[in-house]
Amino acid sequence: MEESLEQFFVLVGLLVCLACLAKCVRFCKCVLLSFWKVLPRSFLQSMGQWAVVTGAGDGIGKAYSLELAKHGLNVVLISRTLEKLHVLAREIEQTTGSRVKVIQADFTRDDIYESIREELQGLEIGILVNNVGMLPNLLPGRFLSVPGEIQSLVHCNVTSVVKMTQLVLKPMEARRRGLILNISSGVALCPWPLYTLYSASKAFVCTFSKALQAEYRAKGIIIQVLTPYAVSTPMTKYLNTNMVTKRADEFVKESLNYVTIGDDTCGCLAHEVLAGFLSLIPAWAFYSCPFQRFLLTRYTDYLRQNAGIK
Ligand SMILES: NC(=O)c1ccc[n+]([C@@H]2O[C@H](COP(=O)([O-])OP(=O)(O)OC[C@H]3O[C@@H](n4cnc5c(N)ncnc54)[C@H](OP(=O)(O)O)[C@@H]3O)[C@@H](O)[C@H]2O)c1
Repeated sequence: MEESLEQFFVLVGLLVCLACLAKCVRFCKCVLLSFWKVLPRSFLQSMGQWAVVTGAGDGIGKAYSLELAKHGLNVVLISRTLEKLHVLAREIEQTTGSRVKVIQADFTRDDIYESIREELQGLEIGILVNNVGMLPNLLPGRFLSVPGEIQSLVHCNVTSVVKMTQLVLKPMEARRRGLILNISSGVALCPWPLYTLYSASKAFVCTFSKALQAEYRAKGIIIQVLTPYAVSTPMTKYLNTNMVTKRADEFVKESLNYVTIGDDTCGCLAHEVLAGFLSLIPAWAFYSCPFQRFLLTRYTDYLRQNAGIK
């Protein structure tokens, strides 16, 4: 009895060591990839002629559109404000020589996909960036005090990912090639109080993405979910940048180095480190009242000062 108990503990110890080793290997890979580009420059272009980016008019989506065009892809920009899309389209065409197609769509609605399907017909889509998303409250707030229409958030953060994937996956499967990047959030890695709805909607993106990758990996399609923390964009009221809060263009450039690293990534080394640090906080502390008080007071003050919120 004593001997089998001992063997049990040795086995548990070994499994814990293996799990730590796997984390270390992943972290080392991130460090390596953030300093040394191993992907050939033609890798993204080899996925297909066109990239489709949702929420492309500003922030992270705009940065993806520009960067993918620099990698030689033609880009379909889908977003809400037509003027912003035309300005970006001109910039991309002039600076990269890539072709650009613009589609105006509001992802808070669910009757837009038939016309998007028609607009995409005939294009060889190699890359889809499911980027569009909305954050109902930049400052932490309890569920009942958060403004906004719940159905709109679900359409924008959840439905858009599923429906856009549905539109491009079949031709990708036929060509046995394609890359789908789903932009979730660091607050999806565990349930975040005071960002409840956003955190839950982004957790859907993680689950959908990872399960779909398991289904389609053997068909040659890469599906990766990204879980960044702070990036300075209109969504975050252009939060001051620092070691953790990234500029959209630097985040995107770095994240594209990681497309083959695995099913999920924070997208940049700084956010990987932050995620590792946050995962060390025990659940009882993370979900405690003092931690929520900290978010409602100190963290709110930090956001007010650094994002210029009154
Ligand atoms: N910024 C961060 O710190 C951060 C962190 C983690 C995850 N994320 C995620 O990253 C993604 C991009 O974030 P971001 O900060 O770049 O966002 P953003 O600054 O709010 O907006 C980027 C673009 O999305 C478009 N858009 C917003 N709602 C739309 C809608 N209903 N229909 C069509 N287009 C819409 C905007 O259109 P207009 O041009 O008309 O305004 C804008 O062009 C989101 O999914 C977000 O949740 C962001």
